[in-house]
Amino acid sequence: MTGPILTSPDDREDETATTPADPKPEAPRPEVEGTDVDEAMITNALRGVIDPELGDNVVDLGMVKRYERGADGVMHITISLTTAGCPLRAQLMRDAKARVGSLPGIDAVKIHFGEMTSQERSDVMARARWKARDNALETDIPATCRILAISSGKGGVGKSSVTANLAVLLADRGYTVGVLDADVGGFSMPRLLGIDGQIEGQRAGEGKTVMKPVARAVGAGMLRVVSMGSIAGSNESEAIMWRGLMLNRAVQHFLEDVQWGSLDYLLIDMPPGTSDIQMGLARMLPRTDVLIVTTPATAAQQVAARAADMARKGFLRVAGVIENMGPSVGPDGTITAVFGSGGGQALAEAIGVPLLTSIPLDAGVAAGGDRGMPVALEHPDASASAVFAELVETIVTDVAPPVEIAECSLRGALVRAGADLEGARRRAEGR
Ligand SMILES: Nc1ncnc2c1ncn2[C@@H]1O[C@H](COP(=O)(O)OP(=O)(O)OP(=O)(O)O)[C@@H](O)[C@H]1O
Ligand SMILES: [Mg+2]
Repeated sequence: MTGPILTSPDDREDETATTPADPKPEAPRPEVEGTDVDEAMITNALRGVIDPELGDNVVDLGMVKRYERGADGVMHITISLTTAGCPLRAQLMRDAKARVGSLPGIDAVKIHFGEMTSQERSDVMARARWKARDNALETDIPATCRILAISSGKGGVGKSSVTANLAVLLADRGYTVGVLDADVGGFSMPRLLGIDGQIEGQRAGEGKTVMKPVARAVGAGMLRVVSMGSIAGSNESEAIMWRGLMLNRAVQHFLEDVQWGSLDYLLIDMPPGTSDIQMGLARMLPRTDVLIVTTPATAAQQVAARAADMARKGFLRVAGVIENMGPSVGPDGTITAVFGSGGGQALAEAIGVPLLTSIPLDAGVAAGGDRGMPVALEHPDASASAVFAELVETIVTDVAPPVEIAECSLRGALVRAGADLEGARRRAEGR
């Protein structure tokens, strides 16, 4: 399920040495019916749909059979499954629908499933094997991990605060949550999450580094955090050297060279603006879902819309809008709207995605950030905390439910039952 873990320079050299000798088995192109079907656009969107069992996307595996625009305007897509009773059917349907449905000009999508012939099945397996060997993803992030990038057009709208609060609440539910601080120049995750451990860079030849995230147990789960702020060496000059080596391609290094281990979720705290990092992410991790954070002010909406547009140009799915610093309700019921109201809803309508929530302006968010104790965990009764908790519920049930395949469905059931999986693991390891 996971890509190879690089542990030493030798492994890295091995990897380049084992480029498969046999040519890549090409996936057949889908049949296209109707003249108004933008094949490239749909294909790119479907590249974000991963079959977690086979560890690759449905396009490159050759599972996509047909695109057809019906007379009623509905986009019909046929996907072949390895077996008709594939347990991943519902998840593939939901992911494919969400991705294609978020494309401009496509209002309704219907997914049809077929069953592969035995020849098709063996061809798909051959592609999956080739891909596993080729390791084109070049990342240790498991195929079963849900990836959410928290993005915005404008700085200071609360991306990092939202990321930190979502991360601790997901971990508290028993999930293993990776946090990638993609704000390379203005990192904030170590401070917001109270992380003071450091990532030790290990040299792995050709200027490459191999890194382990800084781990912090939270409730029944675990956070694994990677940030420029946690890059260290045995002394300050070595730390400066590591940072310098990484600066240009830091996010790519984080994706390629970090040993993430098992992950249920990866949250990516994006830098402000529509930068190269966004485009790079779209290229490197096309299965990322984007959450756009905006304030209720109208000026913020326009730039946030640009961020959404950028995500879509890279064929990332924008999964929803989060309004932050929204109206708050005082104990006597008075509503205070420091930054106005309604901006989140207006943006959601403008870009055609759901408004997931409106987080109120709450001094506890800032105070918790300063102490490295996200408010949602430290003060669950604070006004913003209840909203963060509802948002996490929406994420795990609707926006990006954890991937459950055979071994993980047991895990999912245990997590839902409140089992302390991480605690049990730590106790077993005698920590
Ligand atoms: N709901 C909220 N209520 C009160 N303060 C908030 C709220 N959300 C964020 N803040 C505060 O607003 C400031 C900016 O938040 P944050 O750093 O999370 O934004 P950002 O979008 O990540 O910024 P940047 O673009 O610089 O990375 C911080 O001081 C934070 O504590
Ligand atoms: Mg930030």
